[in-house]
Amino acid sequence: MNILLLGSGGRENALAWKMVKSHHCDNLFIAPGNAGTAEYGTNLSLSVTDFPAIKQTCIEQKIQMLVVGPEEPLVKGIYDFFQNDPQLQHIIVVGPSAEAAQLEGSKAFSKKFMQRHQIPTAGYAEFTAENFEEGKKYIAQHSLPVVLKADGLAAGKGVVIASSHEEALQVFEEMILHKQFGEASSKVVIEEFLQGIEVSVFALTDGEVYQIIGHAKDYKRIGEGDTGLNTGGMGCVSPVPFMDETFMRKVEQRIIKPTIDGLSKEKLNYHGFVFFGLMNVAGEPYVIEYNCRMGDPETEVVMPLLQTDIVGLFAAMDNGTLVDANIEFYPQHCATVMAVSGGYPGDYKKNLPIMGLDHAQAEDSIVFHAGTKLVNGEVYTNGGRVLTVTSYGNSIPEAVAKSKQLLEKISFEGMYYRKDIGYEFGE
Ligand code: AMP
Ligand code: GLY
Repeated sequence: MNILLLGSGGRENALAWKMVKSHHCDNLFIAPGNAGTAEYGTNLSLSVTDFPAIKQTCIEQKIQMLVVGPEEPLVKGIYDFFQNDPQLQHIIVVGPSAEAAQLEGSKAFSKKFMQRHQIPTAGYAEFTAENFEEGKKYIAQHSLPVVLKADGLAAGKGVVIASSHEEALQVFEEMILHKQFGEASSKVVIEEFLQGIEVSVFALTDGEVYQIIGHAKDYKRIGEGDTGLNTGGMGCVSPVPFMDETFMRKVEQRIIKPTIDGLSKEKLNYHGFVFFGLMNVAGEPYVIEYNCRMGDPETEVVMPLLQTDIVGLFAAMDNGTLVDANIEFYPQHCATVMAVSGGYPGDYKKNLPIMGLDHAQAEDSIVFHAGTKLVNGEVYTNGGRVLTVTSYGNSIPEAVAKSKQLLEKISFEGMYYRKDIGYEFGE
């Protein structure tokens, strides 16, 4: 099969690494990709939202499967674009329709969906400019901290946890009256703060049945000890010790099954990944958010631990046999540690040469590129999150130690990574 993968991050590098292992994969193309994906296939310089150019490429390269990495093309309707085009209809698209992608694209849509299907989540209310005054009253009497979320996609910046009513009112005004995130914040969801530990669970679904393909704990803050600003993710570990059978059963019965049944009942066309962003509140799971894609850097530990052929699973998702798929996992632990450019998640430099990659090899470790690019055969930084090292180990600390060891061989100006990924799971 000829496969086109859209995206350019660590997630896509890990997906490419996994997909080329499949005997179903003849040729892999990645658009736009990075210096790491170029090792597994052919990078094509295309924008992930330029649907006409993607169509042209699919025809030229005789693409049979499209795997969509990031959310933006999904929320903008790439699935529907393929479905509605006679020249593209035959291509298997891994990703939901625009309507179903609202589970990620609209916080208000996802909260209503959870309410309809009695899926545990934080209590909430939604407001626009029309009931702005009502919103202010709602905030003034809300318990603290209070969580404010821009309804639409805001590049991961649309959530604010306010510790005072003054701060919450200010953020509310910024979002709605001053359109801080444009259309995305014309509606705001205000919700209860949930105290607990976060975990990301991943399923593949055809809108009727599902298979769980893995889970991970993401370290979102820039600083050690989970301090400082939020980032896209500084590292991940899997499996997570508290994801025992009891907790997993609750997650499946109360969250995953009702979600997939909800998709089916509402006839939402969904063939793709579901990312359940969960909070473990004293042993009880709640949904913080849905995403219609894999996580980054979660994918960089989930793919290495998945033994089953992922392209085979995509085909099964398409032909109605996902229910019979046998999902197998490697028995080890995996950790990934992300190296970022100095200053990230604020301002940072790009185009810095990366040294040491040729010697950064170890049996139990994989270097996945995120924000990198090739210039005349040399690798340069091209983003805030630059690369991540995933390692296998018999325990989380062992896997983390191996990743840190390999990272010592790699360098670029201002390189930073957290040394404490997995800290709560033992030395
Ligand atoms: P999101 O953009 O929905 O992923 O939210 C970003 C982050 O905000 C999440 O990963 C959580 O750490 C935090 N968060 C979101 N909603 C809540 C909530 N209701 N209670 C506590 N933390 C939350
Ligand atoms: N690592 C969190 C995300 O991909 O949204």
